[in-house]
Amino acid sequence: MKYWKRYTKDEQNKRIDAALQKNVNFLTDISLGYPASKLDETVFSSDAPFLKDSPLLRSFVNNPNNIGCHTTGVSEEAFVGTQQIEREVLQVLAVDIFKCKDENFDGYVATGGTEANIQAMWVYRNLFKRKHHAKQEDIVILCSEDSHYSMPKGANLLNLDIAFVPVEFNSREIIESELEKIVATQKENGKKYFIVVSNMGTTMFGSVDDPNLYAKVLLKQKVDFKIHIDGAFGGFVYPINTEKTTVNLSNKHISSITIDAHKMLQAPYGTGIFLCKKGLIENVLTKEAQYVSGMDLTLSGSRAGASAIAVWMILFSYGAYGWFEKISILLMRTQWLCDQLDGLNIKYYRHPRMNIVTIHAEFIPNELALKYDLVPDTHSGNHKWLKIVIMDHVELDDLIAFVDELKVLKK
Ligand SMILES: Cc1ncc(COP(=O)(O)O)c(C=O)c1O
Repeated sequence: MKYWKRYTKDEQNKRIDAALQKNVNFLTDISLGYPASKLDETVFSSDAPFLKDSPLLRSFVNNPNNIGCHTTGVSEEAFVGTQQIEREVLQVLAVDIFKCKDENFDGYVATGGTEANIQAMWVYRNLFKRKHHAKQEDIVILCSEDSHYSMPKGANLLNLDIAFVPVEFNSREIIESELEKIVATQKENGKKYFIVVSNMGTTMFGSVDDPNLYAKVLLKQKVDFKIHIDGAFGGFVYPINTEKTTVNLSNKHISSITIDAHKMLQAPYGTGIFLCKKGLIENVLTKEAQYVSGMDLTLSGSRAGASAIAVWMILFSYGAYGWFEKISILLMRTQWLCDQLDGLNIKYYRHPRMNIVTIHAEFIPNELALKYDLVPDTHSGNHKWLKIVIMDHVELDDLIAFVDELKVLKK
């Protein structure tokens, strides 16, 4: 690991102070032009004693705006300190976790996975339009039926068609013959450009699609395509415990990734991350954003610099090895649950590198599902699956209590 280190609390405190000092200080500096300020002093006092020990709360009160993209071109002068913190976050993710070449990435901290996925689809739609003069109706979004609803939401916003590839019921793997059929039909319908979203941890199952399968089929059909990875859930799990994987930016077919820090990393909401290889994000330059220095390459507009600080603090509190240990413990707990379910002959799906266990609903009475707050695949009352996500707070004691109740039912 080149960048993903562990810093003491004291080192973090100093580093964040230094970053905040490089930003404009609305309390002490003369700054007349921005429609921005620190948080309201009457409500959020700048000298509350507990702020001394909390760099994150201090940065919330300072209220930096990381508007724009800070991996390319120029950025707002007023927030250079927290922009640098954001670059360090992106560097750890792009280079150390997702094996991108140094300096060969762009990205930003978005509001969440939904925005990061839409940003990716927006980049590719515009790329196909600009580079190949594609018409709107020549482009289609392609993803599995297990994909998150941000893909149809994005299709709707971007006014693009979308096609869903069926997966095999038990393995949740994309069915190659169905993928071939769908691509052929789309081609017949005039589609020439495919925006693929390949999952690295689906919402309901934690299943991981094979992006190389998409590439194989699309190359065979001789159509143009770009592949985005939706690692909103799995981005801080799958690559951490999977040594030999090509689901990253070293893969020539993969151009961008979504990773949510507000899921597995337990960062505050508003910390979805968009990453892409160099040369792509310029396709969504909003040059009308003239009042923003460097203009804007993001979907967000204004966004909290404190979000980047929160992600930075978590990454550098653990370091690469600390995070590997944490994920290993969660995976051991997941395995324990799977072993118990096997012993009870209860059917479920689990990707071996992920921390989601999705149980066939017929094995779980409704009262038990409600008592333990299991999440169904649909709230229509017609669900086939119920999932357990082994997060930090889902401890072995909780799982033992749940399994004990299942054992009683089986008697
Ligand atoms: C795989 C996947 N992608 C995208 C999202 C959307 O993330 P957000 O709710 O942060 O917008 C989710 C949310 O659960 C998800 O599981």
